[in-house]
Amino acid sequence: MTKKLLITGAAGFIGFHLSKKLLEKNFEVIGFDNLNSYYDISLKEARLKHLATLSKENNYPWKFIKGDLENHEILNNLFEKFEPKILVHLAAQAGVRYSITNPQAYINSNIVGFQNILECCRKYNIDNFIYASSSSVYGGNIKIPFSETDNVNHPVSLYAASKKANELFAHTYSHLYKIPSTALRFFTVYGPWGRPDMAPMIFTKAILEKKPIRVFNNGAMKRDFTYIDDVIEAIEKLINKPATSNINFKKEEPDPSTSWSPHRIFNIGNSQPVSLMKFINVIENELGKKAIKIFEPMQMGDVKSTYSDTTKLNEWINYKPNTLLEEGIKNFIDWYKSFYKLD
Ligand SMILES: NC(=O)c1ccc[n+]([C@@H]2O[C@H](COP(=O)([O-])OP(=O)(O)OC[C@H]3O[C@@H](n4cnc5c(N)ncnc54)[C@H](O)[C@@H]3O)[C@@H](O)[C@H]2O)c1
Repeated sequence: MTKKLLITGAAGFIGFHLSKKLLEKNFEVIGFDNLNSYYDISLKEARLKHLATLSKENNYPWKFIKGDLENHEILNNLFEKFEPKILVHLAAQAGVRYSITNPQAYINSNIVGFQNILECCRKYNIDNFIYASSSSVYGGNIKIPFSETDNVNHPVSLYAASKKANELFAHTYSHLYKIPSTALRFFTVYGPWGRPDMAPMIFTKAILEKKPIRVFNNGAMKRDFTYIDDVIEAIEKLINKPATSNINFKKEEPDPSTSWSPHRIFNIGNSQPVSLMKFINVIENELGKKAIKIFEPMQMGDVKSTYSDTTKLNEWINYKPNTLLEEGIKNFIDWYKSFYKLD
């Protein structure tokens, strides 16, 4: 029997890859996205076109519905018509810096939209709810590596606060209605078909066009870059293992990553933080070209360092991301040159 699942944000970077992988694994996939203009819509359209072509060639049961998370009616119709039992919720307003200038977008998609999704989980008895959180919930924390048991009450951007709010909302629904729910704290995901607002694409484009790149905090930053295929592998395993309640949960010593309810939180990161200067160097080496660097101060809302502890993920699904940055960047740049026809 084919398994049916709904992926929101399917025209986005991670949603596209997950849709592709699960179609290849015989899932019936329903994709949902509003194709908003936060970044180049033609890239989102190209991802959807790629999925449509693959589905046509291989007879994959792929369906796509365009709509806003804020629109109850569209969501209700979607759940009534397709009756998905598994939901991977990736649609959101992403981006830390954009949340400084466009806070309302985060309230609309990440708060109102998220609540609408939870109501659908409740009304349509979802068996496995998996949703995107973010490493940005660790905010100003300096204890590394970041563990799901750390205190995350000090966000430094509205984006981070909206993702932390999602974890709290989902826990509440998991407690009230016993919805198995899993939060994914992604750490800087990169790879082919990646996002134009993120460093790998921004730097690659600028270096190839001989334009300067802006290096924030004078280069003194570190990121735990996580390769897309590893992220997809982890999600696939979590689809096969819905959250359960922690039978050893102690209310007097509460572990924030688990609960008496079926709610779990996992870091999805490579656990190998790389300095910004090393990261630029890896791109330069792969392109065979030098970057023109402009050093600038730290940006509002940014954090200096991210570093994931993936012990809990590994214990739960016997897997943790592990692709080396050099390998992932090579794959990204190969895709970039072929997609933008630069060879
Ligand atoms: N890529 C990363 O490094 C990263 C890191 C941490 C967390 N995340 C989270 O993972 C998820 C997926 O990220 P991504 O990198 O694929 O981002 P993305 O922006 O490429 O994908 C998100 C998709 O959601 C859609 N969307 C946004 N608001 C919507 C709305 N109101 N209604 C319907 N569709 C809407 C967008 O059109 C987009 O295609 C997001 O929730 C993001 O916050 C990503």
